[in-house]
Amino acid sequence: MAARKRRSQEWFGREGKMGYIYRSWLKNRGIPHDQFDGRPVIGICNTYSELTPCNSHFRTLAEHVKTGVHEAGGFPLEFPVMSLGETMLRPTAMLYRNLASMDVEESIRGNPIDGVVLLMGCDKTTPSLLMGASSCDLPTIGVSGGPMLSGWYRGERHGSGTHAWVLSEKVRAGEMTVEEFHEAESCTHRSHGHCMTMGTASTMASMVEALGVGLPGNAAFPAVDARRNVIARMAGRRIVDMVKEDLRLSKLLTKPAFENAIRVNAAIGGSTNAVIHLIAIARRIGVELALEDWDRLGRGVHTLVDLMPNGKYLMEDFCYAGGLPVVIRELGEQGLLHKEALTANGQSLWDNNKDARNDNPAVITPFAKPFKRDTGIAVLRGNLCPDGAIIKPSAATPRLMKHTGPAVVFENIEDFHARVDDPKLAIDEKSVMVLKNCGPKGYPGMAEVGNMPLPAKLLKKGVTDMVRISDARMSGTAYGTVVLHAAPEAAAGGPLALVREGDLIELDVAKRKLHLHVSEKELAKRRATWKPPKPPMARGYWKLYVDHVNQASEGADLDFLVGKSGAAVPRDNH
Ligand code: FES
Repeated sequence: MAARKRRSQEWFGREGKMGYIYRSWLKNRGIPHDQFDGRPVIGICNTYSELTPCNSHFRTLAEHVKTGVHEAGGFPLEFPVMSLGETMLRPTAMLYRNLASMDVEESIRGNPIDGVVLLMGCDKTTPSLLMGASSCDLPTIGVSGGPMLSGWYRGERHGSGTHAWVLSEKVRAGEMTVEEFHEAESCTHRSHGHCMTMGTASTMASMVEALGVGLPGNAAFPAVDARRNVIARMAGRRIVDMVKEDLRLSKLLTKPAFENAIRVNAAIGGSTNAVIHLIAIARRIGVELALEDWDRLGRGVHTLVDLMPNGKYLMEDFCYAGGLPVVIRELGEQGLLHKEALTANGQSLWDNNKDARNDNPAVITPFAKPFKRDTGIAVLRGNLCPDGAIIKPSAATPRLMKHTGPAVVFENIEDFHARVDDPKLAIDEKSVMVLKNCGPKGYPGMAEVGNMPLPAKLLKKGVTDMVRISDARMSGTAYGTVVLHAAPEAAAGGPLALVREGDLIELDVAKRKLHLHVSEKELAKRRATWKPPKPPMARGYWKLYVDHVNQASEGADLDFLVGKSGAAVPRDNH
């Protein structure tokens, strides 16, 4: 059988003027002519940016990938894409996830690339790259940047994000001085890498491994561990063979692979953000994945890892205990995985992980004696969220998972900040805090503000958790009895927009219920007077986003980006 012609040969294998153009300019940095001989051309999609601190070591990581590509006989070409720094970008990095995915998709399709290595770290850099690559569907391998080393302050582990919430509440409660707060700030993030809690970045790195898009060990090796560089180098070697085998992303990202990932997410107590991102990725590659799949597959799965924000350890401890392979083995032994799912190294998920050894059962608990029981993401329904809302039981307070209380309503995030610490605010620990207009269209971009800080006067009384409901997201590093992603969102006219001060709201997680105790007649009356908020911007990407973004239950992708277009070679440029 004749070998399939590689798409890069449509550039580099040409004679005449076009061949000259495509090769000659690349030679300006010293590429020998033999690199254009038809060997696989590997794109290294790099999200390095000084504005994305979590990805600050990616230049080094890319060099290791390049070494691997050369060793396997490929030709590496690194290219930058929009990098999304969770801590810097305003109003929220999530607003730009879909924009970055377009950059990735078009950069891959428009260039002479046969296979691609995705360098991903900070929260949104993982889904945006996987979404863009899925819409092209070339052979693809993911390399995560790895978590930072553990933060330590005064003899205690301090976790990214988690301690920002814990300590800022201590300052507000008068239990910590501002000077101590600043000292802790300097002790938390002490190496390259992404958040070292089981926040969204670590969750998504685990999803990369569980989906089979990354190599075993991808999730947990710290960014500064030499083995992280080895993973990058091995990925560089492997992608060359994946091109030769035509092992495309769609052969890895199958429905069974997503089902495995959902169960792994439950077992690691992973971020609620994974729900939105995995649905968006699935819809790009052409796999049907719905909110209900999360509820169905998560039921009966226990949280095995005792990591912040749900527990006390950090990713470095997780790595030394054996990392994600141990979790995958535990789930596989319970019959909770599709063991035959294919992974990037050409082996099945089970073959990769069946012999994983647990070196610290305090960090990774056995399934028979789990850290927390039955804690998969719960999908709520009811007249307050006809298209669903979610809660992360592993991060919630058990006694609040069944609770009815009067609403204290904040119309938007500015209203919340202005009033939450007002001593006159009528609120107590039984109240249900409701935040509107923070969804995809409303914020815009669905910011991580759903874990509203509690009022200072209640913190001072010793209250540590309350039921909070919004159409926003929550940082993967956060915790609490927090109902998120209520859909449709308030700004799209969802029932959340109609909640008024004092309305009774019932949450019953066991029954998967979120109910607003207001009659249909009264709601219809309120609906008749509701007016949508003014769009935040009349032009540019913000307008495109607000006009086209889907709701959280559909992955919050832009409606015209759902699906894939493949990687057909476009017309010549001259
Ligand atoms: Fe980048 Fe947390 S801020 S991963």
